[in-house]
Amino acid sequence: MSYTVRRPTAEEEAGFFASMAAGFGEPGNPDGPQDAEVFEADRHWAAVFTSEGADPQIVGTTTAYSFQLTVPGGAQIPAGGLAGVTVQPTHRRRGLLRQMMEAHIDECVERGEPASLLTASETGIYDRFGYGWAVEHEALRLSTYRGKFRADLADQPWSKLQLRMLPSTDDMGAALPAIYNRVQAQRAGMLSRRPEWWQGVLAAEEGWKGGGDLFCAVARTESGTDVGYVLYVLDELKTDNHFRSDLRIKELIAADGDVEASLWRHCLDRDLIANVAYKTASVDSPMRRMLAEPRWLRIDWRDDELWLRPLDIVRLLEARTYQASGSLVIEVVDDFRPELGGRFRVDTTNAASGDGASANGGTDGIESTASATRTDDDPDLTMPTEVLGSIYLGAINPVTLGVAGRIQEHTPGALNMARALFMTPTPPFNPTRF
Ligand SMILES: CC(C)(COP(=O)(O)OP(=O)(O)OC[C@H]1O[C@@H](n2cnc3c(N)ncnc32)[C@H](O)[C@@H]1OP(=O)(O)O)[C@@H](O)C(=O)NCCC(=O)NCCS
Repeated sequence: MSYTVRRPTAEEEAGFFASMAAGFGEPGNPDGPQDAEVFEADRHWAAVFTSEGADPQIVGTTTAYSFQLTVPGGAQIPAGGLAGVTVQPTHRRRGLLRQMMEAHIDECVERGEPASLLTASETGIYDRFGYGWAVEHEALRLSTYRGKFRADLADQPWSKLQLRMLPSTDDMGAALPAIYNRVQAQRAGMLSRRPEWWQGVLAAEEGWKGGGDLFCAVARTESGTDVGYVLYVLDELKTDNHFRSDLRIKELIAADGDVEASLWRHCLDRDLIANVAYKTASVDSPMRRMLAEPRWLRIDWRDDELWLRPLDIVRLLEARTYQASGSLVIEVVDDFRPELGGRFRVDTTNAASGDGASANGGTDGIESTASATRTDDDPDLTMPTEVLGSIYLGAINPVTLGVAGRIQEHTPGALNMARALFMTPTPPFNPTRF
């Protein structure tokens, strides 16, 4: 009996997908997954079990998507999106996930991807492999009865946006990718979507990537530019004697707060709607500050959305912008891949300063790039790889991580400097689940 981790052959692909479906407790589909086109066959890894007298059997799977990730300041970096991680219940806890993780990380490094990403089914698995919780979301719920805006907001820029409904998924497929791409180019945390990805987002059946009986409203400026959309389904309320539905937002993509407000307004103002819910909303929705009764925008939960695993730390640190002027030596302890860790100086003092005009623009007009180098200097801070992954996109406060014992501060004030450097005025957002 033995196990090998290798690429599945073309003939083994059906067995690979059947094993993946079984690992997630889903029925296998003999034709493969519904959105098979979105998978990249050269990024699959299979754990293959061989025993005497029996055919080799695929008992573990991973795959990856080749994303571009927007980082603070608007640069896009390549990143491997780990997905389809399963080990058959009959072969679990024998180290197969660990072996497949090694294969995935090596593959990302070979491809020149400075980070690996994932969305996690369970939060206890991945920090041992260097992944940190990097983007959060909130599940919001609002009764339309409590959904009025403050009276003094009646004539704001959001009210000048033109909204139109798209009648079919063909129309949505034609209009939405360009809007998404424009917003993705400026919002940290957002991931590129290949054309195949949209088939899942707009599929007739609801699945992990989106889909369902979709409605869509698009917001357009007076000058004729499409600047956002909301995609939603209506769940009929069976308990109500009258015809009423809950409106469930699948994704709301907005170039700025005004667009977001106008799209929420569209949802709240539809007739025959009892409640509006958005389970994967950005954590900084301006909605709460616009409502006449802000308390009633309920947060059902606040959760992890995207996890990030630093691989090429110098490249990562130089790719993003920072909100302060300063220099820090960060010691990164990488237990899973020690050669990727080390000490790094990040220094924004001599780097180019912008005008803070991007969506993640700095406070007081400061937004600068940084130089990053490996160094032997004494560290100001020490943190494990996954903690650098957590603070990298600007969502998680390094000071809080220090209080929680996840970052050691050697130089007084260094945690506060890390907060000023890394946190962004607008938190990252990721609407793409994979
Ligand atoms: C999660 C899963 C892939 C783990 O596979 P596995 O081969 O049993 O994992 P390994 O034996 O390689 O374990 C590697 C490490 O992860 C830990 N681990 C594995 N599954 C875990 C879980 N669900 N929660 C917390 N830790 C877990 C192991 O204890 C081990 O820790 P150690 O190396 O520090 O001792 C498997 O149980 C599975 O397929 N679950 C159902 C599908 C799923 O949840 N997939 C994850 C999608 S994001």
